[in-house]
Amino acid sequence: MILMGPPGAGKGTQAKLLEQRFQVPHVSSGDLLRAAVKRKTPLGKQAKRFMDRGELVPDEILLGAIEERLHQDDCANGVILDGFPRTLAQGTALKSMLAKMGLRIDHVLSFNVPREDLVKRMSGRRTCRDCGAMYHIIFDPPLNPGMCNKCNGELYQRDDDQEDTILARLDVHERQTAPLLAAYRECGLLREVDGIGSQDQVLNRILNLVQAHE
Ligand code: AP5
Repeated sequence: MILMGPPGAGKGTQAKLLEQRFQVPHVSSGDLLRAAVKRKTPLGKQAKRFMDRGELVPDEILLGAIEERLHQDDCANGVILDGFPRTLAQGTALKSMLAKMGLRIDHVLSFNVPREDLVKRMSGRRTCRDCGAMYHIIFDPPLNPGMCNKCNGELYQRDDDQEDTILARLDVHERQTAPLLAAYRECGLLREVDGIGSQDQVLNRILNLVQAHE
């Protein structure tokens, strides 16, 4: 299953819920890159300057890391991909990675959320430094400000959730990801999800769409 949609649309939030529901791992290209930046690995050092500008990380930097992650044992029976692929070239690369693993794409979910809501969602997002749990200062606030409900870790704001970078990311998505969405629509894999409403409402819409296309 592939989760697509603009930055802030709720892909990561829903991926965590779907991971529990379907018992297959959530693989997020953004999380993978942020972990590499935090560890200051060669991948992280190369990726950071693109991420800080809200641009896509070039394929020659990213694809090897995605393929390596997909070859780990926990992905053998399936995976929920979040944020990858985003371009036609990445879609082609994924197809050949999955073919080697004997997997296929069942569903591509695309979240529709108006631009002004996306900006509000990203500006208010907070993430736990220790366990990665996600909150929103208005829509899903932690019990204690600045502290994770699950592990008491410190909540932080992502570097790329500053307003000018948010706007750059939205533009990049509109320009670079639209052709891939069109290609998935054409081959009958695209399921469009209304991303407005509570997290449970959005999850139920996804589950209904998945069931309808089984
Ligand atoms: P990435 O981390 O993938 O960011 P993104 O696609 O920009 O998506 P986000 O993580 O911002 O949003 P989301 O849709 O997951 O929303 P979330 O659930 O967090 O990528 C970051 C960067 O890495 C890219 O800019 C690029 O540089 C690089 N990169 C990554 N993948 C790449 C690729 N394939 N190729 C090249 N470069 C790549 O929700 C957002 C907020 O809204 C949260 O606070 C949440 O609590 C809240 N929220 C969620 N659901 C709801 C709801 N229903 N109602 C109200 N609030 C909600």
